[in-house]
Amino acid sequence: MSGCPHTSATAATAAGAPLVLDGTARDLHGEATALRALGAAPATVLPGGIPARTITDPGLARRLLSSSRVSKDAHRHWPEWIEGRVPADWELVTWVAVRNALSAYGDEHRRLRKALGPGFTHRRVKAFAEPITAITTQLLDDLAATALAEPGGEVDLRDRFAWILPLQVANLLLGVPEQLHDGFRKHIGSLFDTSLTPEAAASEAAAVYGLLNDLVTLKSATPGDDVTSDLIASHRTGDLTEQELLDSLLLLIGAGHETTVNLIGSLVINLLNNPEQLAALTSGSAEWTDAIEESLRHQAPIATIIPRFAVEDFTDEETDESFRAGEMIAVNYAAINRDPGTHGEDAHEFDITRETRGDHMAFGHGVHYCLGAPLARLEVSIALPALFARFPELAPAYGPEGPAPLPSIISNGPLTLPVRLGRPAEAPAD
Ligand code: HEM
Repeated sequence: MSGCPHTSATAATAAGAPLVLDGTARDLHGEATALRALGAAPATVLPGGIPARTITDPGLARRLLSSSRVSKDAHRHWPEWIEGRVPADWELVTWVAVRNALSAYGDEHRRLRKALGPGFTHRRVKAFAEPITAITTQLLDDLAATALAEPGGEVDLRDRFAWILPLQVANLLLGVPEQLHDGFRKHIGSLFDTSLTPEAAASEAAAVYGLLNDLVTLKSATPGDDVTSDLIASHRTGDLTEQELLDSLLLLIGAGHETTVNLIGSLVINLLNNPEQLAALTSGSAEWTDAIEESLRHQAPIATIIPRFAVEDFTDEETDESFRAGEMIAVNYAAINRDPGTHGEDAHEFDITRETRGDHMAFGHGVHYCLGAPLARLEVSIALPALFARFPELAPAYGPEGPAPLPSIISNGPLTLPVRLGRPAEAPAD
């Protein structure tokens, strides 16, 4: 997903000023390269004019992400927020305002993460294999019907496959009733869109909270064996406030859905771009798990995660980077995962045989390490082999530059994925 050079970044850097991150993310990896050239923690400006140090170095990132000197809680550690200097209509305000595990620190983080734990036990994740297979088969059957009805026609594989599968899995995990599926489908992606106007971002956030309230009302009346019912029970016993309940649901829907769609989309593109690697996978001479890890490394589905804050003044001795108390820190997983020191000068290439393919930070590091990593890996390890087995002639219907990327500094994946399906193979016997 390359694009035009990041001209505003170049201009800002030349003057020694902080690098202004492009909220439309036209060239995320070009920007990551420019950032890396500036150092391990260059000064940057987020969309909306908010300053942040952006971390590009894997070693520094690991140290910061496992240090109690770094917090995710703006309410305790970001003076701009505490003193009311952050505009209420800042397009990224949801990432700071929410009260869930992703934005908590210390004991509070442990309590909020613990509340999510029962949803992600080994047993519960394993039990998802069957429904994921069933959802995948249904989606592929629908695509096969389209392929037969319109031979040679184009379909948007993001819309018809990559987007729907994780959403349906998140719906199952949370027990979201059928009548809310379309609403979540329509509004959830907007949370990651850093190119929205403040008005649009506020109205989308209101729509999402309306849906979350509906979900809690419905599940309070008819609880089930799902994470929403677990979280409502924690709210009733006083372990979660109402806002923590709603925001924990928001985290699970957003994190479960918007990330995995990107992994599926990027892996499809990487394999269509590298037919010899695809052939090795479909013939069984290479492992799908290696392809999944290499795609997570090569196209980190969460390119940059905001925000973190320095709890006190400190200096990282290995890089000599100093941080001031209250300074915002953004972690650029896209830059980190293509670090030439770790992955070599060809780090920008997709290569499933790369020795360091598993040595990525796409799921984060430390206490906030992704709770859903095993579920995401399970989804993709079922969906991708099934997709390519069913559509052996699958071919890109986009140009050599690849499909346009999502307009987000956070979420990294294709905005659309136009392909030609070709003739479907027989559906596998049950
Ligand atoms: C390819 C798919 C996924 C990717 C790349 C991904 C990535 C990440 C990353 C980078 C973090 C850490 C953020 C940080 O540094 O602060 C994270 C946290 C989290 N993820 Fe995922 N994620 C994925 C799928 C999922 C799924 C399927 C779920 C659940 C349904 C999920 C739930 C969570 C939760 C709850 C956290 C917060 C953990 C905490 O703060 O303690 N993720 N994820």
